[in-house]
Amino acid sequence: MGYFRERIDKMAGYTPGFQPKQTDVVKLNTNENPYPPSPAVLEAIRQTTAEQLRRYPDPFGDVFRRVAAGVLDVQPENIICTNGGDELLNIAVRACCDADRPLATLGPTYSLYPVLAAIQGCPAIEIDRYAPDAIGQLARADAALTIICNPNAPTCDLLPVDALADLASTLSGVLLIDEAYVDFADDNALRLIRDFTNVLILRSMSKGYSLAGLRFGFGLADTGLIEGLMKVRDSYAADAVALRAAAAAIVDQPYFKENVHKIKAERRRLIEALRVIGLDVPDSQTNFVLARCVGRDAEAVFKALTQQDIYVRYFNLPGLEDKLRITVGTPEQNDTLVAALEAVYKG
Ligand SMILES: Cc1ncc(COP(=O)(O)O)c(C=O)c1O
Repeated sequence: MGYFRERIDKMAGYTPGFQPKQTDVVKLNTNENPYPPSPAVLEAIRQTTAEQLRRYPDPFGDVFRRVAAGVLDVQPENIICTNGGDELLNIAVRACCDADRPLATLGPTYSLYPVLAAIQGCPAIEIDRYAPDAIGQLARADAALTIICNPNAPTCDLLPVDALADLASTLSGVLLIDEAYVDFADDNALRLIRDFTNVLILRSMSKGYSLAGLRFGFGLADTGLIEGLMKVRDSYAADAVALRAAAAAIVDQPYFKENVHKIKAERRRLIEALRVIGLDVPDSQTNFVLARCVGRDAEAVFKALTQQDIYVRYFNLPGLEDKLRITVGTPEQNDTLVAALEAVYKG
């Protein structure tokens, strides 16, 4: 007998973006925020006491839930704290799906979703995002768990919240709206948790709040859904330091808003510069862009950039093989990238 379940032996695991060891590189491959977190976060971490570390953390994360509820205008009971948004996805798949209870998504999208389905052993239905009536098809599939990434990775676009409300009203299962990138978008679906008991919103502190290294995310939903998810999560997944740091970050809304404003302005400038070079770049509702390498082989461009220590993301997947996903960096990082791309295009 093998050590693992047969499906684990057979599956490929999730491939995370490359994390170079050096820091003096232009790293635009994993959609991190190029700016540091609020100074209040570092202060909260510094002020963590030995006693807070000696004891197990609060399993519900009330220090975070209370302040986040105030900022987002919900009740603390509408929030579940998780070890990154990824853990919420993991919990939702484990809570909702099994061999008879499928997961449905709109592809192309975040490549972790099918990996979680493969681990869980549930059918994974992927509807083509660009197919006619894609949302209608998702509604008719009526999976136990439907995940929509909004704004979507890696395509950067935002579905109208009204369309998500219609979908939620038809589904008999849970609709998880992955809003990892929503801080950079024009709208969000949080209001749906008041009207629908089956809507679960994912939020991440990794992008808008510059805390990818901390590993903190959270879910927002009607209390019935939150209570069910609580049964499945690891009681102490959100640690004492992360809870304090995430609370400090979300309270500092002026810092957050200024940071997001800078990234959106840089996104505009980056998109225009890439278009001038000749890449085909749709508008973006996220902190990254998806650029089609017109007239050049995207993988070759990716390799040429990597050789110069400029890291972007290339997916050798149907529909994405001619594109590069590029995180919006600081003005200096973006200038370096644009100059290198200009050289590749002229060469
Ligand atoms: C679409 C999407 N959802 C969720 C996550 C999870 O974010 P985290 O676990 O860092 O909070 C990511 C991370 O890149 C993502 O791209």
